[in-house]
Amino acid sequence: MIIVRKARLSDVSRMLPLLEEYTRQAEILPRTQDDIYRTIREWVISEADNRIIGMGSLLIMWHDLAEIRSLVVNPGYQGQGVGRGIVIQLIEEAHRLRIPKVFALTRKPDFFLRIGFQPTKIKHLPRKVNRDCVFCSKFHACDEVAVITHLTLQDRLSGSFEPSDPNGTPIIPQTKQSAIHTPYPPGISR
Ligand SMILES: CC(C)(COP(=O)(O)OP(=O)(O)OC[C@H]1O[C@@H](n2cnc3c(N)ncnc32)[C@H](O)[C@@H]1OP(=O)(O)O)[C@@H](O)C(=O)NCCC(=O)NCCS
Repeated sequence: MIIVRKARLSDVSRMLPLLEEYTRQAEILPRTQDDIYRTIREWVISEADNRIIGMGSLLIMWHDLAEIRSLVVNPGYQGQGVGRGIVIQLIEEAHRLRIPKVFALTRKPDFFLRIGFQPTKIKHLPRKVNRDCVFCSKFHACDEVAVITHLTLQDRLSGSFEPSDPNGTPIIPQTKQSAIHTPYPPGISR
């Protein structure tokens, strides 16, 4: 069974190899052990067969904005809805905090568009630009694409957020919902 859950400090040593592998491939920015311990509350992991098979983190940027970072799935488990499950749990966390906008900078925009994000422009994310991009060596030659999803006011007030694409189609197809178990289902921690 594939599980998606909040990360624990005891997970960190098992999270590092996958993060380091994708850092070597320049798919994500480096995350150190120290950094992960300090930010452990931001992380969601996926587990299967007693292994950590994927993870991602949610960085709060402002009262209304958060960023998905360091999203990775073990190659042997890709294409099974794991990345989607992690993103949904991160969005649920943003929802719980009443953060309406969640974005990512990515070289895999089609994955995010497929699960309901919309394209945007990095220049429309001045908090990100001023916090990180201006210090990046690729600032003037950025090869990442910005994608964003907006929670509606109704989503936030009702506490019944169900991720959907712009046409209202649920982000997790029924077939995949049953395959991924979340021990912290929507509603339990609100
Ligand atoms: C990108 C990544 C996280 C996707 O994880 P995943 O578990 O394979 O994705 P899912 O199985 O949840 O895919 C969800 C949907 O997106 C689609 N999708 C996944 N990766 C895609 C890609 N690179 N391009 C286009 N569509 C993609 C899937 O086909 C699926 O579509 P469906 O709803 O029709 O079935 C994973 O490929 C990965 O770890 N890549 C390397 C690291 C990386 O690039 N991270 C992104 C940093 S922002």
